[in-house]
Amino acid sequence: MSQYQIAVIVGSLRRESFNRKLAEAMANLAPSEFTFQHLDIGELPLYNQDDDASPAASVQRLKADIRTARGLLFVTPEYNRSIPGVLKNAIDHASRPYGQSVWAGKPAGVLGVSVGAIGTALAQQHLRNILAYLDVPTLGQPEAFIQAKEGLFDEAGNIGADSRVFLQGWMDRYVAWVKQHAV
Ligand SMILES: Cc1cc2nc3c(=O)[nH]c(=O)nc-3n(C[C@H](O)[C@H](O)[C@H](O)COP(=O)(O)O)c2cc1C
Repeated sequence: MSQYQIAVIVGSLRRESFNRKLAEAMANLAPSEFTFQHLDIGELPLYNQDDDASPAASVQRLKADIRTARGLLFVTPEYNRSIPGVLKNAIDHASRPYGQSVWAGKPAGVLGVSVGAIGTALAQQHLRNILAYLDVPTLGQPEAFIQAKEGLFDEAGNIGADSRVFLQGWMDRYVAWVKQHAV
C-alpha cells in the first residue's frame, strides 16, 4: 500500500491553539496510509532576501520536510481578516531563492477555526490566492469554515459529535485529492 506523508502547517504558535488541536483531531479521521508531520514554523527567522544564499538550519529543515511530503495540510486562524504573519513568513521562506520553491505541485487542503462567526473564511481566501501563485493544487470543496464552540472537540481531543460527519466528509475528499495529485 502506498504511503502518504503529509506536512501540516499550523498558522498559530499559541500553546493552546484551536487550530493545532483541529489539525491533530483531523489526523485521526485519515486512513492508516496517511501520516502527518507538524512543521515547526515558530523557529524560523523573519524572511530576509539577503539570507537566500545561506539559509538558517530551520529554513533548510522546513524545505526538506516539504520536499519529502506528498501533500500539505494548512490549518490556520484568521488574523485581522488575513493569514497570520508567521504563516506568511513560512510560506515565503519555502518559496525562495527564486526558482527553488518547494511548494509547486504538492496537493493541499485548507482548514481553519476561529472564534469569529465567519470561521477564517477571509484568511482562507487569502491563503488560496497565495497557493495558486505558488502552483499548489488546493482542494476547492468542501470549504470548512469552523467556529470555535463548546463541543467542537470531545474529551479525548477528537472532533466532537456535531462536526464529525462533516469533517469526516472533508477528510475523505482531501484523501482522494492527495491521491489524485501526489507524485
Ligand atoms: C492578532 C489577532 C487578530 C485576530 N483577527 C481575527 C479575525 O480577523 N477574524 C477572526 O475570526 N478572529 C480573529 N482573531 C481571533 C482568533 O480567531 C482567535 O484568537 C483564535 O483562537 C486564534 O486561533 P488559535 O486558537 O489557533 O491560536 C484574532 C486574534 C488575534 C490574536
